[in-house]
Amino acid sequence: MNKYISVLLFSLCTSGLVAQTNLPVYLDETKNIEERVEDALSRMTLEEKVDMIHAQSKFSTKGCPRLGIPEIWMSDGPHGVRMEFAWDRWEYAEWTNDSCTAFPALTCLAATFNPELSREYGKAIGEEARYRKKDVLLGPGVNIYRIPLNGRNFEYMGEDPYLASRMVVPYIQGVQSNGVSACLKHFALNNQETARERVNVEVSERALREIYLPAFKAGVEEGKVWSVMGSYNKFRGQYCSHHKYLIQDILKGEWQFDGVLMSDWGSIHDTREAAMYGLDIEMGTGTDGLTQNTSSAYRNYYLADPYLKQLQQGKLPMTSLDDKVRRVLRLCFRTNMDRERPYGSFATQEHADVARRIAEEGIVLLKNEKSFFPIVRGKYKKIAVIGQNAVRPLTVGGGSSELKVKKEVSPLEGLQSVYGEGNIVFSMGYTSGPNNFHPQLPPVSASDSLRQAAVQLAKEADMVLFFGGLNKDQGQDCESADRQSYELPYGQDQLIQEILKVNKNTAVIIISGNAVSMPWIKDVPTVLQSWYLGSEAGNATARVISGDVNPSGKLPFSIPVKLEDNGAYSFGKASYPGDESMTAHYKEDILVGYRWHDTKKIPALFPFGHGLSYTQFSYGKLSSDKKIYQEKDTIRLSMKVTNKGTVDGAETVQIYVGQSHPSVLRPKKELKAFKKVFLSSGETKDIVFTIPVKNLAFYDEKAKDWVVEPDRFTFFCGASSVDIRDSVSADVE
Ligand code: BGC
Repeated sequence: MNKYISVLLFSLCTSGLVAQTNLPVYLDETKNIEERVEDALSRMTLEEKVDMIHAQSKFSTKGCPRLGIPEIWMSDGPHGVRMEFAWDRWEYAEWTNDSCTAFPALTCLAATFNPELSREYGKAIGEEARYRKKDVLLGPGVNIYRIPLNGRNFEYMGEDPYLASRMVVPYIQGVQSNGVSACLKHFALNNQETARERVNVEVSERALREIYLPAFKAGVEEGKVWSVMGSYNKFRGQYCSHHKYLIQDILKGEWQFDGVLMSDWGSIHDTREAAMYGLDIEMGTGTDGLTQNTSSAYRNYYLADPYLKQLQQGKLPMTSLDDKVRRVLRLCFRTNMDRERPYGSFATQEHADVARRIAEEGIVLLKNEKSFFPIVRGKYKKIAVIGQNAVRPLTVGGGSSELKVKKEVSPLEGLQSVYGEGNIVFSMGYTSGPNNFHPQLPPVSASDSLRQAAVQLAKEADMVLFFGGLNKDQGQDCESADRQSYELPYGQDQLIQEILKVNKNTAVIIISGNAVSMPWIKDVPTVLQSWYLGSEAGNATARVISGDVNPSGKLPFSIPVKLEDNGAYSFGKASYPGDESMTAHYKEDILVGYRWHDTKKIPALFPFGHGLSYTQFSYGKLSSDKKIYQEKDTIRLSMKVTNKGTVDGAETVQIYVGQSHPSVLRPKKELKAFKKVFLSSGETKDIVFTIPVKNLAFYDEKAKDWVVEPDRFTFFCGASSVDIRDSVSADVE
């Protein structure tokens, strides 16, 4: 060899520019992940393996320091990357570099009916997680909205399994494109916060398969999620975080999930079950009960020393441990051992813009008589903004999804910047009282004077924008407790009624993650259903109110007139929140949400899928490509939509399907496709929907399989689940 070349090669090798050939397989990125997993596993001691499968702090696991396998760092989720916590205490770490972008709550995301926005959401929040050196983002949540009282509905994607499935897949893909794992939660049947740690759910196999599991299945099979979180509650008598049927048989068996099943924080109750029934990482366990803790007692976890001991004694098989460690290693290779993953970015303008666009597309115009909205600039001289939610930071509180934000624009600030400060007057109107998060709020004893001042202001103004709804306090939209009543809290109904007496030009903006009763609905010309919108809340809200943005959100849940009209609630305590033994019997079965209202002919105040626009859309004729289909076919439906109005806008066309003569009870109709189309004023577009015939199936409990019966099916196209514009029927042979 030429002398110069050999000198060059020598210096390249010593400088590290040429790959070392003696790299162990698990560190060799040219090898596939499964080979690397096996190699790493073969090098680990028993103790090192056990160290990998339980927490070492509130939000991390240990990794394997000797082999250079990193710790896994996790963070909540799902609306932004949560602030840092102390190592071993539920205390904020008080870092100064952890103020994030708050994205809108997942109810808002679902209301956009726009899967592409969901991908942008996932990508952006994943970038924030990556920048903050998180390997797992604890979200999204896809528990089905069963009842309007559930304190955590705001963190989920509504009442329809098809909608939730279509929205969750791109979110996961977006997050994971950053080399950060999404963590799909809470698996499964965590549909209430009341007694969440002990409630036992009894639900039919059919409702489980048709309603409660599809969004998880889509997240695993299509989204390829890398981790899933088990839930606190029980199902058929067994805790869900070590549930043989749910985890071993369905998740890891039928759906072939190859990732990590981690516990919720403190959802583990037994070493043997945790070892044998699919738990891979144990987090958040208290060492003397569910939440109590002794300092740094992680060795006492069910999957720490107690497991090690039973393994050493041969009481539990080593194969159970190896399967867990393989999965944890796979997670590492996909995240913190992937040297190619991007670096992420944090609290950028780009992320704020994503948050704002999602907020704008998610706000739902429920009612708008005589085109009261939009309030174009200059229309009114004096606008009274009334209500605590116009100024209250709504990214704070709510439980684990709480956020510390770089900025949060309130509705009042958003409106001031659109209409000019001189045209806006503000009065709080009601108070929830001060608490740890909001010490500055007036006491409840000030309620009368707040109300009187607001009514006086309303009287003097040209129009009123009332901002109320729920908030993130305990007992509202907040983890670990459910709401106690369907009514608006803090005397808001009375306040709205008194305002209406002195000023009919009043619009109501409800900010919540749940349906609320609206006893004043007939007297209010315009109502917006808004959400916890995050950093850009005020800007998005003001742009919709002023008409800079034409609203296009659709309700991801039904708003019943009264609570008794909700299926789950109508069956009494045994159905929700549970009987004396804290078993909740899901007696409404498959008839959740609009499936109940529709089938039982109980009209909702505002139905699932409802949402108005400042323009009008006309729907053409719905036609199908064939009249007869075979089971293997895909149905192709087409129609035209036209924007007949004078402003540009977007419409979500929804396709529901009903079967004519089913052998079992089926909902009158079910959502099977939707498409959001953007149309300039006057524009017409053709839209095409494709529905595989197999998606018309129901779950047959006897056959333990999905069955499409030969029958006539009707396809309804609608602007909501009630506002059906056309339909077409076809036969399946
Ligand atoms: C919640 C989870 C959350 C975890 C960690 C639990 O109480 O149920 O959703 O990810 O805490 O904060």
